[in-house]
Amino acid sequence: MKHESFEESASQPPQVGWQPELEIEALRSAADPCGGTSAEIAAESDLGNAPQAEALSMSSVWQMESLAAADAALAATSKSYGYRRVEHPNARTLAVKLAQLHAAERTVVTAQGMSSVAAVALANLHPGARVWLSKELYGETSQLFASSLRRWQVETEVFDPTSAEHVRKLADASVDMVVVETITNPRLHVCDIARLAQATQQAGGLLVVDNTFATHLLCQPLRLGADFVIESLGKQVNGHSDGMLGFVGGRDTKRMVEVANVVKTFGLTSSPLDCYLTHRGLMSLAVRMERVCANSMALAQLLAKLPIVREVDYPGLPQHTDHDIARQQFTGGFGWMVTFRVDMDRSGVERLLSALRPEIRFVPSLGDVCTTVSHPLSTSHRDSSPQVLAALGITMGTLRVSCGIEPTEWLLECFRKALS
Ligand SMILES: Cc1ncc(COP(=O)(O)O)c(C=O)c1O
Repeated sequence: MKHESFEESASQPPQVGWQPELEIEALRSAADPCGGTSAEIAAESDLGNAPQAEALSMSSVWQMESLAAADAALAATSKSYGYRRVEHPNARTLAVKLAQLHAAERTVVTAQGMSSVAAVALANLHPGARVWLSKELYGETSQLFASSLRRWQVETEVFDPTSAEHVRKLADASVDMVVVETITNPRLHVCDIARLAQATQQAGGLLVVDNTFATHLLCQPLRLGADFVIESLGKQVNGHSDGMLGFVGGRDTKRMVEVANVVKTFGLTSSPLDCYLTHRGLMSLAVRMERVCANSMALAQLLAKLPIVREVDYPGLPQHTDHDIARQQFTGGFGWMVTFRVDMDRSGVERLLSALRPEIRFVPSLGDVCTTVSHPLSTSHRDSSPQVLAALGITMGTLRVSCGIEPTEWLLECFRKALS
C-alpha cells in the first residue's frame, strides 16, 4: 500500500506503509550471487539447483582461469570475484539491492558505518578542503572530520542545517563538502534535504547525508539531490544487533569508483557474515518498520502526557520543530527513535534505568527488534564539551529510546510503570 500523504489530522498517528516496489525490491533474488535484473536472473538460473536462501560465501580468494581473467577480476571490471577485499558475493548481493532501493548509480558496502563516512571523505577531500558539518552529528562523524582529518588540513565549520539563515549562508559560501543526518542523534531534528542540496551545489560542494535513522523506507536522499547517502546498516536494516556494516551510495559513477578504490586500498571492506545477516534483516525491514514507527508514535504521545517528562522529541509529534518538513519529506512514518528529558540527577537516572529493566535494557546503540534505551551524555556524546551539550540541549536527564517490535500496549505499560 502506497502512503499518499499525511493529510489526516496532524495529531493522529500517520498511516504507515511503504511503496510496494521498495518492499518487493528488498525481497528480490535472495539467492542471486551476482545481482542483475530479475529478467537476467530468471534467464541465467538453473532452477533445479537454485537455493531459495542466499549462500554464505566465506572464501577469501577465487581461482583464476587465465591471466586476462585475473586482470579483470582484480580490477573489478568483470563480474568475477578475485580477492575478498576487492569484492565478494555477499557484499555484491546487498550492494545491488541497496542501489535499487536508493536509486543510486552505484553503492559500496563497507565494514561499518564509520568506514562509509571515512571512504566518502578520503575519496573526495584534499588538503585545505572546507567541510560544513551539521551541529548535530553522530559524535564520531564530527570527530573524524574535525579532529582526524585536521591533520590533513581539512577545515571544518559547524552550522545548523535546519536554520534558513544558515542554509542561505551556505549557498553564498565556497565549500567542498556538507555533512548532515536525515534525522539527527539524539534530538531527532529533520532538515530539508532538497533545499540543502541546492545550497550545497550553489556553494560548489558535495552533499553527504547520513540516513541511518531513516533508512530508504522513510527517505531516499539521492532522489532529493544529495550526492552521497551513507548508512550504518548495523542498526534498523540489520535489526538484530548482530552485524556491523555500512554503505555508501552515489549518483556519480566516477566518484563511486573512487569510493570503491578507497574501500579496497584502505581495507574498509565488509565481512561476508555481516553482509549475509544484514541482507536477511533487509528482507524483513518493511514489516518491522511498520511496528517500530507505530510504537514510537504511541510512546511519544504517552511521554508527552506524563507530568514527570519535561520534553519529548519525535518528528511525528505536531509540536516538534521539524514536524512539517518531516511530513513532507518522509514516506510512511517518522522513525523508531524517541528522545525525552526528565529533571533527574545521575542517581535518579540510574534508578529509572533499573526500573525499566529487565524489559527495556540500557544499550548504547539502536535499531534492535527489542526496545532499548540509551543515555547520550554517557554514551554517544560522552566526549562533547559542556558548550556543545548545552547547545544541543543534552542534559543528565536526556534519554533516547529505540523502539522495537513488541506489542504496543505492553511497551507503553513498561514506560508508564517505570516513570510512575
Ligand atoms: C547516525 C550514525 N551514523 C554513523 C554511525 C556509525 O556507524 P558504525 O557504528 O556502524 O560505525 C552511527 C553509530 O551509531 C550512527 O548512529
